[in-house]
Amino acid sequence: MIKVLFVCLGNICRSPMAEAIFQHLVDEAGLSEEIAVDSAGTGSWHVGEPAHPGTRQVLTAHQITYNGRARQVRDLDMQSQDGYIIVMDLNNKRDLEERFGPHPRLHTLMEFATKTDEINVPDPYYTNNFDYVFDLVNDGCQGLLRWIRDSHDI
Ligand code: 4NP
Repeated sequence: MIKVLFVCLGNICRSPMAEAIFQHLVDEAGLSEEIAVDSAGTGSWHVGEPAHPGTRQVLTAHQITYNGRARQVRDLDMQSQDGYIIVMDLNNKRDLEERFGPHPRLHTLMEFATKTDEINVPDPYYTNNFDYVFDLVNDGCQGLLRWIRDSHDI
């Protein structure tokens, strides 16, 4: 099983959106037995909460379901170095590296996007622009899946 963990700050806006979109793409590609998808936050403020209403709304508008609850990144997530850690912004990368040290398979989601120059996924918790974030995350997830399929020959 190839593990993909999406990470943001609160695990209520961006990383749950990425998890839901990526899971949807994985299911569509018939790869759900090959790729395991999850998300978590570097912070603990929202642990146990459902995704932000803005994230739930934009996912529903695109007919994508999500029922996950927020959790914080744990040691085990970072110890398994064969899984991919996909962060939403460079603050997430810095926070993870401060706490856990460098990870060999840590990437920003925007490394895989092809339709934008954004380096970070801007946080809709502050901007409220969930539609724009959906487009960025969708673009990144499409590129990420292509890259994983190529790397693993699946
Ligand atoms: P996220 O957005 O990292 O995309 O889930 C945030 C959610 C909550 C907070 C910050 C960012 N907060 O400070 O509570």
